[in-house]
Amino acid sequence: MEPNSKRRAGKTSARKVVDIPARKKTAVLGVTGSIAAYKSAELTSLLVKQGHEVFVVMTQDATEFIAPLTLQTLSKNPVMTSFYDEKENWRPGHIDLADRANLLLIAPATAHIIAELAHGLAGHPLAAIALATRAPILIAPAMNGKMWDNPATQENVEKLKGRGVEFIGPEEGMLACGYEGLGRLWKVNDIAFRAEFLLTRHDKLIA
Ligand SMILES: Cc1cc2nc3c(=O)[nH]c(=O)nc-3n(C[C@H](O)[C@H](O)[C@H](O)COP(=O)(O)O)c2cc1C
Repeated sequence: MEPNSKRRAGKTSARKVVDIPARKKTAVLGVTGSIAAYKSAELTSLLVKQGHEVFVVMTQDATEFIAPLTLQTLSKNPVMTSFYDEKENWRPGHIDLADRANLLLIAPATAHIIAELAHGLAGHPLAAIALATRAPILIAPAMNGKMWDNPATQENVEKLKGRGVEFIGPEEGMLACGYEGLGRLWKVNDIAFRAEFLLTRHDKLIA
């Protein structure tokens, strides 16, 4: 070390970001019935590579678009699709996941799940987890642009934002329904990056 740098190191230095050794975090990934559901496979892989425990919860409609087996294999955890596959524990699995979650990420999120969450419905495990968890919620919508623009959807989005739910996307582009517009799922790499920030932000201190 050069003499000058030695002197600098000895001084009380400027503030810096200190990483606290990270605990493994739990991300619950909700997948709903959108044509973009296949992208949840890539997203699951990214979250696992980021070092997190990932539990996937799918709506019944989502299982028409991508097989639970795919997401179970990639997440290395059982996939929840119904209240009634919860047989392992005395404690309901959806409440257990709601409590364990450090983040609830719903990607892709349909107009339907956004409406359910805005109205506090709990008719399936994903909606029930969203009601029960105290973890941050990040929603990545994907739908036809006219569905997204509809005042009903926009009111639901605003209602959820008002309760602290964060939205990422949708983006503009060619949609699977043949229209061009605002409704495409945000890039999965960017969703994973935002999820990482929300999962680990308390592991960084300004010292
Ligand atoms: C081929 C196909 C693609 C669909 N894509 C979307 C979509 O991207 N976004 C959306 O909100 N709904 C989409 N839907 C409609 C939803 O699947 C439907 O509203 C369903 O009830 C959503 O249920 P869930 O939110 O419980 O998964 C699509 C339907 C079909 C048949």
